Amino acid sequence: MSAKRILLIVGGGIAAYKALELVRLLKKRGDSVKAVLTKAGAEFVTPLSLGSLTGEKVFQDLFSLTDEAEMGHIELSRAADLVVVAPATADLMAKAANGLANDLASTLLLATDKKVLMAPAMNVRMWLHAATARNLKTLQDDGVTFVGPNDGSMACGEYGPGRMAEPAEILAAIDTVLGAVAATKPLSGLKAIVTSGPTHEPIDPVRYIANRSSGKQGHAIAAALVEAGAAVTLISGPVDISPPLGVTLVKVETAREMLAAAEAALPADIAVCAAAVADWRVAADAEQKIKKTGDAPAPLALTENPDILATLSRHPFRRPKLVIGFAAETENLIAHARAKLAKKGCDWIVANDVSPATGIMGGDSNQVSLITAGAEDNWPSLSKTEVAARLTQRIAAHFGKP
Ligand code: CTP
Repeated sequence: MSAKRILLIVGGGIAAYKALELVRLLKKRGDSVKAVLTKAGAEFVTPLSLGSLTGEKVFQDLFSLTDEAEMGHIELSRAADLVVVAPATADLMAKAANGLANDLASTLLLATDKKVLMAPAMNVRMWLHAATARNLKTLQDDGVTFVGPNDGSMACGEYGPGRMAEPAEILAAIDTVLGAVAATKPLSGLKAIVTSGPTHEPIDPVRYIANRSSGKQGHAIAAALVEAGAAVTLISGPVDISPPLGVTLVKVETAREMLAAAEAALPADIAVCAAAVADWRVAADAEQKIKKTGDAPAPLALTENPDILATLSRHPFRRPKLVIGFAAETENLIAHARAKLAKKGCDWIVANDVSPATGIMGGDSNQVSLITAGAEDNWPSLSKTEVAARLTQRIAAHFGKP
């Protein structure tokens, strides 16, 4: 399973120490964990130990101005694939069952649009109490999944159900819930290749030909496809931005490396070529730094790079079912994009005007037209994330899974 984003709420109970081990296991396999520590939880484990293990800030306060400025509580509740409550105390269960929202943890549980997995831990009498049984039933009816509690001797000296499930059991439950969630996603079971960013074509060991592509649009598309459940290989030229969580990242420098990586990632159902591939490379790049000689500089002899989009579109036996290219133009946008659709043999073209005045190259927004064989759809100016989400919706509709 690809890396996941877990929002972990740590409630107040002696079992909170096991939450630290759970974080360690999640991080070890590459998942990202944002932790929320309740006031009671902080009596058992410290924000420092949780933060050291997650490698991220620990959220504790609903009314913290600095926390809200960094990431609002609504966003925090949704920027995850799964919310895990471990330990889930009787108090947290009661709050969640009744929709109370008087601290950060309960507010997140009410505000989230993601699945919730609870690992209860409490005294055996508290677990067996009619009120807890009622809350458990309510939460289960609301779609919350439970792991444990296990039978065992408790810190308080009693024996019976109430011990929090072991970290490895919680990990397995996380995978089961995420697997079930993934199966319901529109692009689940489909494989996508996304190229993104510029390429660098060497002139000599210290110089190269490049372009101004930031990779923001391609990376946003890869993120949206992952979100929709696709297995995504992101082939990225040199960029300054981080890869989205959950992709298989292949870093390349040159167009030829990008093509090799794309072919190696076949077969795939979807290919989105968003990279700004250099059309030309230096025919014979120098092994040593080219020096000034005092004479007029020798012109650089260029040769054409392979076309990744055209190669995938015309692949003799492994053509992806849907191949999407971009057209970066500075004039006659639609006409040039239509010509590109035919020339490259792809199914759709996302056309954008990259004239410097538009600020699209390197910027955060994009205004595109989606060109298909029979239609032309002009989208308004949107953030690159929104363009990615819309394109992903169209892809899902194409595969009959809106
Ligand atoms: N592309 C590619 N490999 C190349 C060149 C371009 O895969 N060697 C892809 C880009 O990722 C994009 C599409 O082709 O999806 C169009 O890129 P663009 O730069 O707009 O067009 P070019 O093919 O470079 O044509 P021109 O320079 O004539 O506009």
